[in-house]
Amino acid sequence: MNDSRIAGFYRLRIPDRIAKLEELGYLSAANAARLRDGRHVLASAAADRMIENVVGVFGLPFAIAPNFVVNGREHVVPLVVEEPSIVAGLSSAAAVARPAGGFEVENESSLLIGQVHVTGVRDPDHAIAAIGNSKAGLLDAANAVHPRLTERGGGVRDVEVRLIALPDGKPLIAVHLLVDTCDAMGANLVNTICEAVAPDIAALCKGEVALRILSNMADRSLFTARVRYSLPNDVRDAIVTANAIATVDPYRATTHNKGIMNGVDALAIATGNDWRAIEAGAHAYAAATGRYQSLTRWSVAENGDLVGELKMPLKVGTVGGTLANNPAARLGLALAGTDNARELAELMAAVGLAQNFAALRALATGGIQAGHMQLHARSVAASAGTPDAVFDIVVERLIESGEIKGWKAREILSALEDSDRAESTANAAGKVILLGEHGVVYGRHALALPIPDAVSVSISAAETLSHDLPDELVAVLLREMGIENTNVRIDIKSRLPFGKGLGSSAAIAVGIVRAFDEHLGLGLDDERINAIAFESEKLAHGTPSGIDNTLSTYAQPTLFCREDDRLQVQTLDLDIPPSLLIAWGDETGRTSEMVAGVRARRELAPEHFDAVFDQMDRLSRRSAHYLRAGAWTELGTAMNICHGLLNAIGVSTPNLERMVMLARQSGAVGAKLTGAGGGGSIVALCPGCLDEVRDALQQAGYSTLVLAMGDSS
Ligand code: MEV
Repeated sequence: MNDSRIAGFYRLRIPDRIAKLEELGYLSAANAARLRDGRHVLASAAADRMIENVVGVFGLPFAIAPNFVVNGREHVVPLVVEEPSIVAGLSSAAAVARPAGGFEVENESSLLIGQVHVTGVRDPDHAIAAIGNSKAGLLDAANAVHPRLTERGGGVRDVEVRLIALPDGKPLIAVHLLVDTCDAMGANLVNTICEAVAPDIAALCKGEVALRILSNMADRSLFTARVRYSLPNDVRDAIVTANAIATVDPYRATTHNKGIMNGVDALAIATGNDWRAIEAGAHAYAAATGRYQSLTRWSVAENGDLVGELKMPLKVGTVGGTLANNPAARLGLALAGTDNARELAELMAAVGLAQNFAALRALATGGIQAGHMQLHARSVAASAGTPDAVFDIVVERLIESGEIKGWKAREILSALEDSDRAESTANAAGKVILLGEHGVVYGRHALALPIPDAVSVSISAAETLSHDLPDELVAVLLREMGIENTNVRIDIKSRLPFGKGLGSSAAIAVGIVRAFDEHLGLGLDDERINAIAFESEKLAHGTPSGIDNTLSTYAQPTLFCREDDRLQVQTLDLDIPPSLLIAWGDETGRTSEMVAGVRARRELAPEHFDAVFDQMDRLSRRSAHYLRAGAWTELGTAMNICHGLLNAIGVSTPNLERMVMLARQSGAVGAKLTGAGGGGSIVALCPGCLDEVRDALQQAGYSTLVLAMGDSS
């Protein structure tokens, strides 16, 4: 299935949400049309055939939680539920789980228990032995009841006996038939089997049949879901504490488990499953130790991650029952993306765990009322006629104001209309790599500095979307911000050359996002801005390292290292800024080709290349200290050596060498190529000699940019 992340899904109108699900393959054209026309809803006449005394059908919201990955499968989750916050909580919990791989769910067996209770037994020991001795015959008799079940690979797998005392002390024999019901939930199947074999069982026990029906304590169909989250320590620890409370206090455990069932039930209803059966099983299992406890466990892993586990009985079906009669349930099942009962139960377990995480995180942070406040604000914004494009902004400002009232919503709307006419401007930084390029591809450190205010972006109101940028770049950014249909004019002023390894594409992306944030009050934090810019960098660079967007967003001198495909970032505070000059000519290198060239050459002499990368690593790390200490001679020397190493691995050019030499001859204490090489730019460290170096390079026909706070450019 396609990626289940659907950015800004909640901001879309209902027809657009349906279209999006169709486009991503989660809805067939026929089901999309049914939803659009409301033809998926159970008809009264059909309802009349399902139960007695029908007077109509009853509506509930039918929603989607995107973002789920369960056992490596992508899912959107259909949910039928009336309580606000559940869907948003689930979507967010699933999204945050993705970086660590989403949810893993395990299950050993999926058997439904049918019970035959026998009373009036004089000799219980004899009864138990008789059942044991007749097991094979009982299994044959039970399996003969539903030959088609055995043909499908299901059937009665085992017979077990329990001796219990009734309240008056008399013996009660409970015979359990363990039935594999395949993709059916199996209630009717199992009940028929129990009814058929009950007389034989009673005869063997020399007693009377009291009851013969399935048990909803489905502890032979246990599912264990697991997930990992990387969270701030205080939130993580608060979740662990909340969970610990639910293991010792049954009053809290009840609410805790109710939260889990918020998600489980909503999915069960959406897929036509018997949620009362699932509820009964879940709560009975929660009390299985003799004390009612939480169904989840949250703990801290060795690496500091929060680890969650939910273990609960889930016996669900993807055939028969409501599914046969209710078109909405069939549509829900299609959306869940599986017709396999085990997979559906896996998804349900993941949803239960995600819902519990969402509730505990909300309780551990803002408190659950914050979520409710959000919903109240949404309904006030809707009543004030807020257009979709600014809906979330109005909601946010309503909450911030503390006045969640219609008059306040109208006041915010009119302020937004005023600002819509105005222009918003934002700046973003470029980047220059001081040391360690190429080594960073092989897990070594690199040191980079921001080029402050390299790009300035302004956004002004317009009838249509207009700009001079690649359409796909703007489309990605708008999509990631969830404002696809916004009409504005985007203007860029940049002092960075394009394609010279100075991070201009990331700076433009960050500048655009910041300008929109300002213009529409989107409330994006740096982390989100960085993530959006990273998405756009994939367009420019395929598999970007993340250095450019990070530098551009945070605009801080930074020591980087890539570990396990994640960028480790250490920012540096500088007391004295270095006097740096950047220069470039006409020659342009292609990063992907340069990286591929180094890779090919390294394969011929890995030992030598790795020694070079190790040396680059040492230089980068030492230079972080030189930079902080203002030790320019040492830093310059490190840059010179690094340039030599870059030349050694084949990424310099005669033109770059010429620029480096000119800079050094004019007084630079260090000069080197910067970025991938093969063209592009050089960076020179010029304490007290910026003008001389700049003049020399400019006279030789190169363009320059001075990067030193306090110096002129
Ligand atoms: C509300 O429907 C569910 C919660 O109360 C669950 C919990 O407290 O864990 C939020």
